[in-house]
Amino acid sequence: MKRIGILTGGGDSSGVNKAIVTIVRALGYRGVETVGIRNGWQGLLEGAWDTLALEACKGWEYQPGTLLGTARVNPFTQGKDKQLLAGIEECKLDGLIAIGGDDTLSVAEKLSALGFPVVGIPQTIDNDVYGTDRCLGFDTALHAIAKNVNAVRNSNAAHARDMLVEVMGRDTGWLAVFSSILVGADYVLCPELDTTIDGLVSRFQARKKAGCPSCLAIVAEGFGLSARGDLEQADVFGNLELEGVAYWVAKQVHEKTKQKPRVLVLGYLQRGGSPTPTDLLLATRFAEGAVSTLLAGQKGIMMALQRDEVVRVPLAEVVGRKQIVPPQWLELAKLELGL
Ligand code: F6P
Repeated sequence: MKRIGILTGGGDSSGVNKAIVTIVRALGYRGVETVGIRNGWQGLLEGAWDTLALEACKGWEYQPGTLLGTARVNPFTQGKDKQLLAGIEECKLDGLIAIGGDDTLSVAEKLSALGFPVVGIPQTIDNDVYGTDRCLGFDTALHAIAKNVNAVRNSNAAHARDMLVEVMGRDTGWLAVFSSILVGADYVLCPELDTTIDGLVSRFQARKKAGCPSCLAIVAEGFGLSARGDLEQADVFGNLELEGVAYWVAKQVHEKTKQKPRVLVLGYLQRGGSPTPTDLLLATRFAEGAVSTLLAGQKGIMMALQRDEVVRVPLAEVVGRKQIVPPQWLELAKLELGL
């Protein structure tokens, strides 16, 4: 292999740039050229790519976001498969490393099924890619949530107000469950737990009776999906635009209690911030693993973290499935929050 492409797709997260720099370095040591594809799969459709030299991207690694750009593009469902293959040929690629969540990896899987060597790196703050214990960016997102919640909770306490903090995670509750433990929330609403708005109301009332002036609940953006009728399709992968569930919950709390909890939608703040050491090290391990896997002639593989080991998992086993929060973490949240 002489020339390998890298692309980043879907929602960005901190730690991606560290993975890119490590890939450039690791390929360079083995005499292989790296090409940075701009804006995910879109770059291969549009001929948007540049050769990446280590000297030019040194210093990127501590920056959040993805310096290659990203897009939610699916050439296979948009009838652009031929254009994608033509782009790969024009770019003279011998292989590709795709960094992203389940959508990006599903395109990577289709491409490798056609015979082109692709290796994936799981990256999403949602931490919901099947087959890996951790996705790149999850740890930094948790830090961002904890930092921002701690920045506003004293204000709410001073006003004796209740607060609903909405976190991302699409249809899983990784960020919600972990952050509810981290910030010491009074309640959590997320897809994997059978917690309810009535449960939240009685928990807040019990806390008030016990003398607590201000309560805090974490709400996962994917909570109550079947009951919400206001959702529109957001992208070509069929994902819904979920933001705003905490306002929907607050309205119902208001109707039931006449109390109006304040809402904080953390949104894209969760994707920001300098990558944590945990994400930087994970990025390095995934990137080194992806380079060795590709150069060893393996394809259709995703690098995964399992029991603190970086392992190779077939992309075909990953796509179309979701990693939901496992029972031991749900149990811990229940114990910690007294659910
Ligand atoms: O990165 C995944 C994710 O953060 C989801 O949690 C969220 O629903 C979605 O991205 C938002 O994506 P967009 O950037 O398209 O608004």
